[in-house]
Amino acid sequence: MTTSLKTLAQLILKNCEILDDSCAKRGIPVPSLDKPYAPGSDVATDDDPAAAQAMMVIASTTEQLLKTIRPAPLALYSFVTSGVTGAAARVASELHVTEALRDSGEKGLHINEIAAKCKTHPLKLGVVLRMLASHWVFKEVRPDVFANNRLSSVLDKGQSIEELQAHPENRYSKPFAGLSAGVDHFGDDSLKMCAHLYEALADPEWAFSSAPNKSAFNKAFDFDGTLWEFYELPDQKVRHDRFKIMMSTAERFDSPELIPKGFEWASLPDGGVVVDVGGGIGNISMKIAKTNPKLKVVCQDMQKTVEAAHAHWKGDEEKAIISSGRVTFQGHDFFAAQPVKNASVFFIKHVLHDWSDDSCLTILRALREAAGPDTKLVVMDKVLPYTCLDQGEGEDVPGYTKPKLPEPLTNVGAATIGFPYMSSLVMMMLGNGQERAIGHYVELFKKGGWKVERVRQFDSLARYDSAVIASPI
Ligand SMILES: C[S@@+](CC[C@H](N)C(=O)[O-])C[C@H]1O[C@@H](n2cnc3c(N)ncnc32)[C@H](O)[C@@H]1O
Repeated sequence: MTTSLKTLAQLILKNCEILDDSCAKRGIPVPSLDKPYAPGSDVATDDDPAAAQAMMVIASTTEQLLKTIRPAPLALYSFVTSGVTGAAARVASELHVTEALRDSGEKGLHINEIAAKCKTHPLKLGVVLRMLASHWVFKEVRPDVFANNRLSSVLDKGQSIEELQAHPENRYSKPFAGLSAGVDHFGDDSLKMCAHLYEALADPEWAFSSAPNKSAFNKAFDFDGTLWEFYELPDQKVRHDRFKIMMSTAERFDSPELIPKGFEWASLPDGGVVVDVGGGIGNISMKIAKTNPKLKVVCQDMQKTVEAAHAHWKGDEEKAIISSGRVTFQGHDFFAAQPVKNASVFFIKHVLHDWSDDSCLTILRALREAAGPDTKLVVMDKVLPYTCLDQGEGEDVPGYTKPKLPEPLTNVGAATIGFPYMSSLVMMMLGNGQERAIGHYVELFKKGGWKVERVRQFDSLARYDSAVIASPI
């Protein structure tokens, strides 16, 4: 079926009107791409579900319109070369271009001055910045003169360029800098894996392996172990620290309701034990403990991460929570027998998607062995929709909401501009994991000894994580 261009344009127009009205109601202007980003200036927020839906429809329809009107080879090439953008963004972030431009405001600086501050070649940096400017990251205000704008200002790490250059080890120490940590991680670790994805899938042995050491990551870094073992090597400390900071910032992209409302923590008995399996340095453990003082949270991770966790928490409230035993850290390999028996909850967030089904089964079975009859398994990851409207098996799980699109849209994946699918592919590249559809969870959990009871979703398009809640079979 073909859709007229006018039909698509009308859908965009109708939804732009919703966003205009939303801005007017909130008393904010439509943001200028030329001005630095300010929190609260976004056109669509989750407080206004109609505006959030309108943003999704506009993004999806615009993509469909562009793919339709462009010559097909150009439509294809407009995104197959997008790795280049990630590489350029990392250069801008790691050389601190945003900070170099901060004081010059909208008038900007000549590329010679920017390059001198950033200690690199002006001609080369100009090529990088012009490429980014073509994507609205920085603005070329006059030939060879660049200024910060809305998107480039997101890369501001909150320190002067002199401080950043003098103490690179502290470059992500300010709260907003985690977004740069993510850009640097994607432009480095992820892009290197991307460059080896084909080799991993074309290797006659590796292609059919679910082992975590037979992935694009292993080809890229010539390392025979998991990404997590790699990050624990002393010479990978910079990458590991950056990853941990990126993970703590990842919450910024999640629904603020995920942890408080993803599970009924208040329904657990006083003194109930929550085991945060693969909990990293305890970002989520701490959140759970802060709002549920009667629970005890055991945050388990690899030994070096546990040591980092002890060093990480310096605030008075967090130190008090740790010294009172409401959050404890425990070195534990989640592939081995689970030492905490009969917990109220085994909580596992952003872990299962890192691993293949075979590896997940080992983790799930170890938790099942240690579970009591009332133990709940709470998994927080994406519930990934198929890109078609038909969502296959698992639609009868209580709480599951199927994605809906207004006619004539049919590409569920385009509605989130592919972000959850990018995430799924990254998980596969780093250790043969993936994001999973609802039916996939049901089957996998059944094999691991758990029955999916219900799911708590915060959107149906997997822009946000969901909570999949299961009981022992
Ligand atoms: C993507 S992070 C998720 C961290 C945390 N759950 C969160 O959502 O912020 C995955 C975590 O799994 C941990 N991990 C990897 N392999 C492990 C293993 N065999 N045993 C325990 N933890 C492991 C990593 O160290 C890392 O902290």
